[in-house]
Amino acid sequence: MSKFHLNLFASLLFGLSGLASYAQASELNADVTRAADFTLLDQQGKAFNLHYHSQRPAVLLMASVTGSEYALQSMTTLVDSVDPQANGVAFALINPEPGLDRQALMAFANAHAVEQSVLQDDAGMVSSTLGLRYAGETLLINPQRWEIVYRGPALDESGAAVHPALAASLQSLIAGEIPAAQLTQMSTAEPLPEHAVPVDVSYSDTVAPMLMEKCAGCHRPGGIAPWAMTNHAMVQGFSPMIRETVLTRRMPPWHADPAIGEFVHDMSLSVEEKQQLLSWIDAGSQRGDGDDLLTQVEAQLTEWSMGEPDLIVTLPEFDIPATGMLDYQFFEVPNTLDRDVWVKAVQIAPGERQVVHHAIATFGPSSGGNGMGDSGNSLFQPQLMTFVPGNDTYVYPEGTGVFVPAGSSFYTQMHYTTFGRETSDQTKIGLYFADEAPEHVLQHYSILNVDLDIPAGTAEHQETAYYTFLRDAVIYSLFPHAHYRGRASEFAIQYPDGREDLVLSVPNYDFNWQRYFQFEEPIIAPAGTKIIHRTTYDNSTANLSNPDPAVDVSFGEQTWEEMLYGGVSFRYAEPQENDHEINVEEYITSLAMGFMDLNMDGKVAVDEMPERARQALALAFTLMDKDKTGGLEHAEFGQFMVQANMMNQDAFIQ
Ligand code: HEC
Repeated sequence: MSKFHLNLFASLLFGLSGLASYAQASELNADVTRAADFTLLDQQGKAFNLHYHSQRPAVLLMASVTGSEYALQSMTTLVDSVDPQANGVAFALINPEPGLDRQALMAFANAHAVEQSVLQDDAGMVSSTLGLRYAGETLLINPQRWEIVYRGPALDESGAAVHPALAASLQSLIAGEIPAAQLTQMSTAEPLPEHAVPVDVSYSDTVAPMLMEKCAGCHRPGGIAPWAMTNHAMVQGFSPMIRETVLTRRMPPWHADPAIGEFVHDMSLSVEEKQQLLSWIDAGSQRGDGDDLLTQVEAQLTEWSMGEPDLIVTLPEFDIPATGMLDYQFFEVPNTLDRDVWVKAVQIAPGERQVVHHAIATFGPSSGGNGMGDSGNSLFQPQLMTFVPGNDTYVYPEGTGVFVPAGSSFYTQMHYTTFGRETSDQTKIGLYFADEAPEHVLQHYSILNVDLDIPAGTAEHQETAYYTFLRDAVIYSLFPHAHYRGRASEFAIQYPDGREDLVLSVPNYDFNWQRYFQFEEPIIAPAGTKIIHRTTYDNSTANLSNPDPAVDVSFGEQTWEEMLYGGVSFRYAEPQENDHEINVEEYITSLAMGFMDLNMDGKVAVDEMPERARQALALAFTLMDKDKTGGLEHAEFGQFMVQANMMNQDAFIQ
């Protein structure tokens, strides 16, 4: 019998008896010889993507469970004797324990002073895909070909030293040579815990409804995704790719860390759903009996899903080439209404869904015919909605609305992507008005750091900014934004008593998927509460989307520059009369404080002023220059002076 059949026989046997027989299982898996790409989060919620490490000499992965002394011993011995990190080798542990949560993983890492990433393989999919079977089982991977060049124990039989075969292969890789693949049986064989992986998953009852709910919103005729899930055959054909995109967390495109917070429109797959989907794929993506729900997937609706809007704002038509990258486009459309209105809901309807990646709709005073220039929606414009694929309507939270005065203009920032065919788009914005003024104004504010300094070549560089609520507020949603070097982004709430809660973490930030994350339960923020926004940038060559790893990067609106920008949508707890007006002076002060006050004590000290304060001043200058003449006229300059004075007061009080 070939090895393949033996394995198959063994798995059938385990499946039937329900008991793992370790006599049979002391064999390592010799069939998996290449490491498939994957993304997992570690004990700190940081993302680890295997193929990110393609430029390293080697990647070491070790299976580990919290109760295994042997795995711990293997790890410490490896770190002490070969010091993988010092040699540029990526080293991570993979923990496939079912039900083990982030806190438990963190507690384990802390208790044993583990500095390596311990990856939370909560669905057990990565471990099984890599063929890992035992705690302490170690894979040495050659990133040139993603070939597994060593599988076996990290330790020799004495248990006190690194296994010579592993040490030799590792040395070869570090020296730039390619060692022959080796498999060394484990002398200590502690089987990894088994996941209750579902068997005989039904396409009709389980898979099709799951894809309908989590995928078909985009994967349908005329939708944004490149292929439509219209029947079983389509899904079967794409199964290998589905497997890969789920394993790497690319699909569904939901980037929030599932361990932090609960969000409306969460389209991620649960651990159980992932197991069902992959188990079904691994069993051959069978059709089985029953109906095929996916045949009911309808073409993307073009009508307004909430009924005919009270006002339809039609953007100019825009031609999209077949290929290439497009800068953001900015459109201004005059508001034709002759009365003030309160908006209660918005729908953004792209003309050509496949090319509209996001759209941000705001409004403000007309530019007087000189268009938007390159600067796009001003920070100080109230926002109507951010559209992302799969999320095209925004019904404002109960009791809130956005006040749109007559005679203003609507502004839209459009992110278009190409898809291999020339086309054109004409997006429409549908506004729904409230009959009466709501009790609260829905506010959209920004958190900004214009003093970014991201050194060339750094893989992890963090920048921070905060926003302080001056009145009691209720926070509805948050929006992280960086450009191509953005690697991870998070928001924490710091309450006036100093307590800090992480409320949103996006560990694998992706510029191509911009979105608001709306909390299932709004956050109550008493006056004095800070929202702290942190973004980690990757300006190294390992970041394949990096426009230029050789330059130091500072703040800028172009995608080859960087941004630390956080959007916050909230309402004040107690309404005040002028809530619909943005107090620009106060806003600028808040923005400037938010990135200058480095120690976050609520005061900007002289030595905290950024080296490039002139840059910040230049921004303020630009913002004050409302008529965009390139200089500050009398009235504008007056405002600027007031502003500068306010900032200085804080500095001198110290
Ligand atoms: C919010 C919209 C959206 C949702 C929801 C979504 N997809 Fe996608 N999908 C896309 C887009 C856009 C692409 C192409 C661009 C990309 O890969 O990012 C894509 C690409 C893919 C690809 C092909 C990747 C390739 O390399 O060509 C697969 C497979 C896939 N999706 C599977 C799924 C599955 C399975 C789900 C549900 C579990 C899902 N998608 C949910 C929008 C979506």
